[in-house]
Amino acid sequence: MISRRQLLKVGTATMVVTGAGLGTFAVTRSPNQALAPWRNDAHTFADPRLRALSYAILSPNPHNRQPWRAELVGETDIILTCDLDRRLPETDPYDRQITIGLGCFLETFAIAAAEVGYLASFEYFPDGAPAVRLDERPVARISIKPDGATAKDPLFAFIKTRRSNKEPYDTNRSIPVDVAEKLLASGRNDAGVGIDIEPAFVEKFRDLTWRAHEVESLTPRTMQESIDLMRIGKAEINANPDGIDLGGFQLELLANLGLLDREQMADPNSAAFEQGMAMYHRLMHSAMGYVMVVTADNSRVSQLDAGRTWMRVNLTATQQGVAIHPLSQALQEYYEMAKIYDEFHRELHVDAPARVQMFARIGYGPEIGPSPRWKVEKSIVNKA
Ligand SMILES: Cc1cc2nc3c(=O)[nH]c(=O)nc-3n(C[C@H](O)[C@H](O)[C@H](O)COP(=O)(O)O)c2cc1C
Repeated sequence: MISRRQLLKVGTATMVVTGAGLGTFAVTRSPNQALAPWRNDAHTFADPRLRALSYAILSPNPHNRQPWRAELVGETDIILTCDLDRRLPETDPYDRQITIGLGCFLETFAIAAAEVGYLASFEYFPDGAPAVRLDERPVARISIKPDGATAKDPLFAFIKTRRSNKEPYDTNRSIPVDVAEKLLASGRNDAGVGIDIEPAFVEKFRDLTWRAHEVESLTPRTMQESIDLMRIGKAEINANPDGIDLGGFQLELLANLGLLDREQMADPNSAAFEQGMAMYHRLMHSAMGYVMVVTADNSRVSQLDAGRTWMRVNLTATQQGVAIHPLSQALQEYYEMAKIYDEFHRELHVDAPARVQMFARIGYGPEIGPSPRWKVEKSIVNKA
């Protein structure tokens, strides 16, 4: 017979062993390879274009698909195109959000070029702007020239710590008015920034963004698009440092225990689906205000402008210590979302042809690490 004392000893010993094992497991779970483009030694290029590109690839972009492809032309130019296989046909059927991501890329490029004394100029869609969907034609021709008069941009300092923070925010901590004003003033002239931190507004949009999330999650083809892009655990993230990274010790452990798999996540009747929804409900209802980017029309150029402005808003939020999380569901153009899309724009008093291009919750959240990236070399195309 085993005494209670022995049992306790066995229990403790088991815990120690398990604890030590888990410790080792935990410290080795960081996908270091996928995070290498964020390290300081990732920017040591003599060619100022490559140097600026090594920062531009750290830009936010939908589902972290990193659709940018850059062809170096001569000594001073780059042709930027979209990798058409990296689009999101279900949730972004007209490539609007992908184009916004490319606008973020251009803005970061300009900021990083200025840091080393180069003025970047952009010719948008030099061979014409695609209408319904993007195509092989360039999104922009980028030119750089040395320019001693180009002022350095203070936002450069925040490129590496900028995040899309998808954690719950502190509901006891409001956004101070002076911080809200800084965010409001952070954009560029070509796309308007709006901000609202009024409790009644926040209440209304917590509900609306949540309902939009429910529609996306309960529409099998849009939910499946996200699931197909999930990278679960270190090995998957290092192999494909893009998409939706579900890394970290806890999630990987759940996956190893068979409690987190793609099939369960797609099944609205599963516990995994229910837990995912509960997690999102909590974080969406922790919004303490909202920032938005609105353009006068929905042209391709306006979408790039929206991206350039979004980049500055996101960097300014980082500068101000505010967490920010885009919530794009209600802005998406597919049949099941149409009603919420209309309600959203009506509530915001944005009438067509103007439209909301970006909408994000803000608040104070925990510090989080960077998201994975492909190395800059992956984005360089050589047309022999
Ligand atoms: C146009 C656009 C739309 C986005 N929409 C969402 C969204 O609906 N939900 C979300 O969690 N993140 C959204 N994001 C944030 C991306 O998921 C994020 O930028 C990407 O995963 C890379 O992470 P990082 O910004 O922390 O580097 C969006 C970003 C952009 C540029």
